[in-house]
Amino acid sequence: MRTRTSSRRQFLQQSGLGAASLLTAASWSRVYGANENLRLASVGVGGKGWDDLTRISASPKVAVVGLCDIDESESFLGRAVTKFKGAKTFTDWRRLLDQSKEFDAVSVSTPDHMHAPIALPAMALGKHVFCQKPLTHTVFEARQMRLAAKKYGVVTQMGNQIQSHEAYRTAVKLVRDGTIGKVKEVHSWQSGKLGWMLAADRPKETDPVPEKVHWDEWLGVAPTRPFKAKLYHSFNWRAWQDFSNGQLGDFGCHILDPVFMALGLTAPLTVRGESSALNREVWSTWSVAEYVFPSTDYTAGKTLKLTWYDGEGKLPPRDRLAIAADVKLPGSGSLLIGEKGSLVIPHVAAPKLLPDATFKDFKVEKVLAVDHYIGWADACRGVGKTTSHFDYASALTETVLLGTVAIRVPGETLKWDASALKVTNSKTADALLKKPYRKGWEPTWV
Ligand SMILES: NC(=O)c1ccc[n+]([C@@H]2O[C@H](COP(=O)([O-])OP(=O)(O)OC[C@H]3O[C@@H](n4cnc5c(N)ncnc54)[C@H](O)[C@@H]3O)[C@@H](O)[C@H]2O)c1
Repeated sequence: MRTRTSSRRQFLQQSGLGAASLLTAASWSRVYGANENLRLASVGVGGKGWDDLTRISASPKVAVVGLCDIDESESFLGRAVTKFKGAKTFTDWRRLLDQSKEFDAVSVSTPDHMHAPIALPAMALGKHVFCQKPLTHTVFEARQMRLAAKKYGVVTQMGNQIQSHEAYRTAVKLVRDGTIGKVKEVHSWQSGKLGWMLAADRPKETDPVPEKVHWDEWLGVAPTRPFKAKLYHSFNWRAWQDFSNGQLGDFGCHILDPVFMALGLTAPLTVRGESSALNREVWSTWSVAEYVFPSTDYTAGKTLKLTWYDGEGKLPPRDRLAIAADVKLPGSGSLLIGEKGSLVIPHVAAPKLLPDATFKDFKVEKVLAVDHYIGWADACRGVGKTTSHFDYASALTETVLLGTVAIRVPGETLKWDASALKVTNSKTADALLKKPYRKGWEPTWV
């Protein structure tokens, strides 16, 4: 494993600062040599984290030096330790960050409630960050991620990897090229099963914490609750408000991403939500969120309406789509209705132009995929740039999470002031932009 001592020394000499000069995290992150290996530490190495870790480390320029997971068993930390021999291991990310001189970059693939609490201090230490989607658990945290990435000058990427896939890249180009004209309305949906919805409320029963699971560290910033097998760790935490944002939180940053990118959307003006009945514990079984965005160069009219639908079998109402009755919609994706035609962007498959008769001779120019993971690692080394950097990803996440705020105040049209980070006409909704943190685990804000 190479260290950065030589390049740091060179930088100090070249810049005339001298070794005694104080180097801030931001300036330190910019002196990284393009020919050096990136020293990676990964937090959350089971589930999607395993995929993230193996894909980033597929670059010959990445050395995995740190592994952190709250579950020491074979399917989680154990497997990573076997593959990445020599990497230091941790069960508490705070102890990993204590050894910050040992690594340059961090990937965060934990459940959603721990993204910001881990990524923010990592960025404050000058570490480049790859963080899973949705970027955060609250709207306020998403804004903090953007501010931190800017303040500390680090290279960032959210894990909405389909953005780099040929299908989404081609869809973005089709819209940007004006193939369907300016876009008048968008419908986006995820009609799949909520396989993780295993309870309707908090269980009365508890289970002993498995020997190799560090439950208190799993809970992290969330209020404590007893362990219950299968309901939370692993994967099924998605059902619970303390850890996730339900189906919209889970899929919004994927499915709305090509719409955001193609249309150049940033923040909505208003959002209105409705859903199945909610208690304080689990997310809804279906929801609808209606966003109104200001116009952009790629939209028609003064505003653009985008409606999100989720829930098993929930597709947008056919009579609002202006497409032929025999067009079969994918189980999840978006329909962009333009002035000259429509575009279906399935999640994940090649985009389809409609109506067939209009586009039957149209040659779609494919945009080849790029590597979302190695692209980040390369950008950390000064080679190229990321596309889902936190400046972009935080705006997308804020929008997605505003939908999950809106469904908790159903039927109210919430007015959003993005620059003030405020819902201006509902104190209840405004309060939901933030959340309380467990004592002793409060993040430090930018
Ligand atoms: N981009 C995608 O396509 C995609 C797909 C699946 C999941 N995800 C995202 O990846 C993240 C993880 O989801 P998952 O389905 O893999 O969840 P999971 O529960 O299956 O895995 C989470 C991993 O993190 C570990 N972990 C939990 N808390 C931790 C902590 N505080 N410190 C260190 N390790 C911790 C767990 O032991 C496990 O190894 C989520 O943010 C999810 O939204 C993204």
